[in-house]
Amino acid sequence: MMTREIPPIYENILETIGRTPMVRLNALAKDIPGEVYAKVEYFNPGHSTKDRMALKMVEDAERDGRLKPGGTIIECTSGNTGMGLALAAVIKGYRLICTMSDKQSKEKMDVLRALGAEIHVCPTNVAPDHPDSYYSVARRLNSEIANSFFPNQYDNLSNRQAHYESTGPEIWEQTKGRITHFVVGVGTGGTISGVAQYLKEKNPDIQIWGIDTYGSVFKKYHETGEFDTQEIYGYITEGIGEDILPKNVDFSLIDRFEKVTDRDGALAARELARREGMLLGYSCGSAFQGLRQLKHLLPADAVTVVLFHDHGSRYVGKIYNDDWMRERGFLREEWKTLGEAVQGRAARPLVTIFPEEPINNAIVQFKRFGISQLPVHDGSSYVGSLTESHVITALTSGDGGIEQLVRTVMGKPFPVLPATSSLLDGVHAMGEAFNALIVQAADGDHIVSKHDLLAQLA
Ligand SMILES: Cc1ncc(COP(=O)(O)O)c(C=O)c1O
Repeated sequence: MMTREIPPIYENILETIGRTPMVRLNALAKDIPGEVYAKVEYFNPGHSTKDRMALKMVEDAERDGRLKPGGTIIECTSGNTGMGLALAAVIKGYRLICTMSDKQSKEKMDVLRALGAEIHVCPTNVAPDHPDSYYSVARRLNSEIANSFFPNQYDNLSNRQAHYESTGPEIWEQTKGRITHFVVGVGTGGTISGVAQYLKEKNPDIQIWGIDTYGSVFKKYHETGEFDTQEIYGYITEGIGEDILPKNVDFSLIDRFEKVTDRDGALAARELARREGMLLGYSCGSAFQGLRQLKHLLPADAVTVVLFHDHGSRYVGKIYNDDWMRERGFLREEWKTLGEAVQGRAARPLVTIFPEEPINNAIVQFKRFGISQLPVHDGSSYVGSLTESHVITALTSGDGGIEQLVRTVMGKPFPVLPATSSLLDGVHAMGEAFNALIVQAADGDHIVSKHDLLAQLA
């Protein structure tokens, strides 16, 4: 065993936050150019990087009087911020109430309760401004409870400042300034923005890559400036991706976003456990998988740091449980991918329609190709979808008959998924709202209808 400096005695557990180790990835990094290092944040006392920002939000609020002795802290959290706040609340003598969405693991809730926090479980599938959302419930409790403080990790800039002051400098020092790429999952944006600001001040050429989920708005917003509500749908990965734009995300510091499917993130986390001995949280799998998806962009001398947010103990009933994985179709050996489902379609290019064409052209295409729906493409992206039902509704509702323009009657664009997604990812993405989805395969985009998908499952 290598000799290491023995840490000092600390006055309380909060003093042990930060100064986490960086560990080289070996087995799984063999086919990734350059050196790959993991900043392993589960070494924090609350087992996640969020301890850093939780303490900073509390101490900044104490300093400027937003949090007073004997006060109550109320926060909406996916669990890890709650854990950091719980440690601060125990040591500093505050009451803590956490609102959590019902998709968060039971382990995360139990752990918070063990530290004395009160938990309010709120539904996941409601809009952020719905009165039952975990944001709204936290706000309401904050207005009802006297002497309470709502840190609001999404918009509270102490969040990213914590990473600017601690995580960023640690990464710079640990790599001796050699870092060329930083990869991390993005939720509130505090980690990526704080670290990025510090690193880019040191060396503006360092590339910052944010890992996003399918069902989140970040990637499209970063690339187009459009907040597209059509990007939003339910997903399973915890801690990353959003249906809002938190103030902590500084898009100008992020060079690229990459989306990772629920299935690929879960499988990558399991690989990290078995091949690197790191028992990590779900979003860590996503972060590593995102890096893998982008490895072709790395030069041979890259020094990449991927930040792993939290520990796997909070996910033992989920991604580390085979039954849970099987129920979602995530076990690779047991499910076909969408890519396999569209194999052999290279000779049948995707048929699309322009938004400015009359629906008569769609009727002709339906008949010619024996299809029931068409993606609407404006030459640069998918802007809508047209199904037989849209056409029938348009014809029966009167106005312009078969001359009506596609754009006036079309529905939302079909979900677009990578070829590595499982058939079950496809089922989830389609849900009840869509008749088809688009698969991005190596030989081009292909459409998979509900009918095709069910035929593959049979
Ligand atoms: C497990 C996990 N991963 C990733 C993130 C994203 O970090 P940030 O909110 O700093 O963007 C969080 C944040 O809550 C998290 O809990």
